[in-house]
Formats: sequence, C-alpha cells, structure tokens
Amino acid sequence: MHGPIIAIDGPAGAGKSTVARTVARRLNLFYLDTGAMYRALTLKAMRERIDLSDGPGLAEMARRTEMRGEYRRGMRPAHRFFLDGEDVTSAIRSREVSAHVSQVSSHPEVRREMVKKQRTWAQVGGLVAEGRDVGTVVFPQADFKFFITASVKERARRRYREMRREGYQVTLRAVEQEMVRRDHMDTTREVNPLRRAADAVVIDTTGMRVSQVVNEILSAVREGRGQTRR
Ligand code: DC
Repeated sequence: MHGPIIAIDGPAGAGKSTVARTVARRLNLFYLDTGAMYRALTLKAMRERIDLSDGPGLAEMARRTEMRGEYRRGMRPAHRFFLDGEDVTSAIRSREVSAHVSQVSSHPEVRREMVKKQRTWAQVGGLVAEGRDVGTVVFPQADFKFFITASVKERARRRYREMRREGYQVTLRAVEQEMVRRDHMDTTREVNPLRRAADAVVIDTTGMRVSQVVNEILSAVREGRGQTRR
C-alpha cells in the first residue's frame, strides 16, 4: 500500500514548515523539505566559492551532492538536514544562505537537477513535500495539494519573532523588506515560479494558530478535499 503524496506550497513565512512536519508526523508519512535542499546547495556553493550566477556549474555540483532530511527523536529541532553526511540544520538557516538562496534556485539547470532528486523520495512511499513548486512541477500528480499563505505583515512578524528567538539583531522593518524582496524573486523568476496549482486548496493562515491549520489539512485529507483529479 503506497501512502499519499501531499504537496504544500506557499511563500516564505506562511507557516508551511511547522504545518507540513506536523501533518507528516500525524499521518506517519515522510517529510520532504525542498527549501532545505536549495539552502544546502547554496551553502555548499558559498563554501566552495562557486560563482552563484553559474547555473550549469551549480547544477554539476548538485549532481555530486548528497542531501537528506531525517527525523531524530529527542533532538531539538527533531528534523535534521544533512549535506554530504554533515548535519547542516542550523547552517542552512544563516542570513548569508537566506540572502543568496533565491539566486541559486533561479537557474533552470539547478531546478532540473533538484526536481530529479526530489522525485526519488516518492519511492519511499507516502510523503508530505513542502516548497514553492511541489504541486505544480515536482509532483503535479500529488494526491492532495495545499497552498498556504498569509499577509506579508503577518509573515514578516512571524519570521521576525523566530529570528529574535535565535538571537539575531534585526528590525521588523528589515525583515519585512527582505520578505517583499524574496516574494518578488520567487514569484517572478522565469523557471518554476511560486504560484498556486489550479487544483490546490488555499489556506490563508493570517490570524490562525498552527494547530488550526494542521486540523484543517487533516480533515481535508480525511474528507478527500484538496484531492487532485486524475
Ligand atoms: O522555504 P525556504 O524559505 O526554506 O526556501 C528557501 C528558498 O528556496 C526560497 O527563497 C525559494 C527557494 N525554493 C524554491 O525555489 N523552490 C522550492 N521548491 C523550495 C524553495
């Protein structure tokens, strides 16, 4: 019995990660964080001083890179991400990586390579995959598709609180400006831009708690809403 593929897309700060992880755990499915993959590739390119405007060069590097996520019970955070065997869970969240990941992920050659890697995870069985183009490009045949969003102000507030908790000295205004810049790059790039799949269920999480969003998705899955037509 093959579990379902659940695609969760949406802009930065919409709360996708927490929601996708919780849904995966509740349904006992594998969790695939495609954003973490682009982040890990960016980190490696920066370390190896590869020109971030060199799409073919970055794609070649992606081909010789091993990436995987793992759930490690008892660790905080429990979802760890490994790049060529090294735990890079916090390194891929640095401001430097966040500032350059949109550029790295804008190259068609890079995306082709990454989508290929992402599709291999479907062989493990059912999964919850989170990103920007999961329902549109990576798994257009996904069993369920959700598009999670929230107002820019709310997304900036969430990211700001998260960064302050992690000890970063930032202002809300700077976070909001960065959010607007990233939204613009993610939605206007030529290849696989962030957009809602026509058959995705939209959830605006402004003013909603994580548990409410999770419950909404779980009941949609149970009732077959958000199920894609075949
Ligand atoms: O979800 P995130 O913030 O960790 O994603 C990091 C970046 O990676 C984001 O700026 C856009 C890019 N990304 C992408 O282009 N396609 C995906 N499927 C996931 C992320």
